[in-house]
Amino acid sequence: MAVGNVSTARVQFVLGTFALWGFSTLLTAAEPEKTVTFARDVAPIFQAKCEECHHAGTAAPMSLVTYAETRPWAKSIRERVVTRNMPPWHLDKTVGIQHFQNDRSLSDQQIEVIRQWVDAGAPEGNPKDLPPPKRWPTSEGWETAKLLGQPDFVVQSAPYTMPAHGQDVWWKPVTALPITEPRWVRAVEIRPASLGGRKITHHARADLEQNDPADPSGGEGLRPAGFLMEWAIGKQNDIYPADSGKLLVPGAQVRWEMHLHAVGEQITDHVELAVWLFPKGQEPKYKTTLAFLPATPRSGGGQVIDLPPNSTAVTSGTTVLRQPARLENYQPHMHLRGKAMLMEAILPDGTTTKLSYVNNFNFNWMNNYIYAPDAAPVLPAGTTLRITAWYDNTADNRNNPDPDQWVGFGDRTVDEMGHAWVNITYISQDDYDRWAANNKLTASEPRQRVTEPRQ
Ligand code: HEC
Repeated sequence: MAVGNVSTARVQFVLGTFALWGFSTLLTAAEPEKTVTFARDVAPIFQAKCEECHHAGTAAPMSLVTYAETRPWAKSIRERVVTRNMPPWHLDKTVGIQHFQNDRSLSDQQIEVIRQWVDAGAPEGNPKDLPPPKRWPTSEGWETAKLLGQPDFVVQSAPYTMPAHGQDVWWKPVTALPITEPRWVRAVEIRPASLGGRKITHHARADLEQNDPADPSGGEGLRPAGFLMEWAIGKQNDIYPADSGKLLVPGAQVRWEMHLHAVGEQITDHVELAVWLFPKGQEPKYKTTLAFLPATPRSGGGQVIDLPPNSTAVTSGTTVLRQPARLENYQPHMHLRGKAMLMEAILPDGTTTKLSYVNNFNFNWMNNYIYAPDAAPVLPAGTTLRITAWYDNTADNRNNPDPDQWVGFGDRTVDEMGHAWVNITYISQDDYDRWAANNKLTASEPRQRVTEPRQ
């Protein structure tokens, strides 16, 4: 800009003295005014970062494929993009680990292009500048299939029907897994089968039940063996690192837990779970377990959250790692009053490292942040994981349905929750020592102090 102003001033000076012609042509040739256009600048960003969810036939409210489809949303796009609400990636970019397998956020520069485009009146530009259109499958395929091909098997829950109106429902059917010999799971993906199902499903959980002879707790019959997978908008698949997986043994079954809410129309659907296995006979070195890390103190076995009307609160909870471990992901889970959640590692030497901080939590998006293999934190035995949650039960919180209500811990959407889902891979002391000899914990120290969440 400064350069442009200087040139303009110089040209005006020159104009007064010499003939205007030659100079003004020179100026345009040297510094063409570049207006940001949809065709040339914005469409490539939308193809890369938005169309996947925003094309015809998806759960998103509109398609962002063509100019005609996009133009009416320009204002709303600016607002969502500049505040980093869209694409849904609500992690503080100045705190902790920043290298993820599934990062769908925009760069600062991409945000600036979109902002400039809207501020310039959202011009279309020359359709010849458009990138070739992307093709999206008409029926939705599995996300994981893009990397691993088709799943080894898919199981379905019994169907359920949610009435148009009524209280939240928890639906807990059981489905056997088609396993005849012990097999290791490489990846899982879960989803309500239809778009309607996705509207009424707050979350769908697949808990594994089996009798693994190697399980140190022993005993007869089927026993809970951890969660296989949870679905919530923003989270659908887990691919374990190449050296780890989950073991399934014959007789294993899935106990589903679907939390459903009424949306004004009657909807019938079921949930489906796709499983990718390691090849027969191939055993990964480590078992990965999906752990529930509370962000709340526990009292008499229960969790405690106490949010008086028109108040804010902070809670935290700790979990000790008894063996060295690698953390594969971070997925905060809160409800409507949830604003932010931080995961820290308190190392046995007393130092604390901030691993990940979601500062802009949005109940509609239970995003799962999957660490890139070279960034996944590896922690020594005796590390304490501390999860801290911030809640806002005031009118400042735009998601708050009623700031005059008292809110406590509970399952319903209008109750509150605070925990993180983290896949933990326990590793041997030897492997930890080898890792520690060559690496340092990759979590960068935050450039700024963790602040109270944005209002
Ligand atoms: C992972 C899927 C996904 C991605 C990626 C995504 N969106 Fe969205 N978007 C949604 C869904 C679902 C909604 C509706 C729920 C909500 O508002 O959170 C939405 C809502 C919006 C809205 C609000 C519409 C309204 O009702 O006013 C805007 C604007 C938007 N998205 C723009 C974008 C842009 C621009 C991008 C890319 C830079 C993007 N989205 C990327 C899924 C996505």
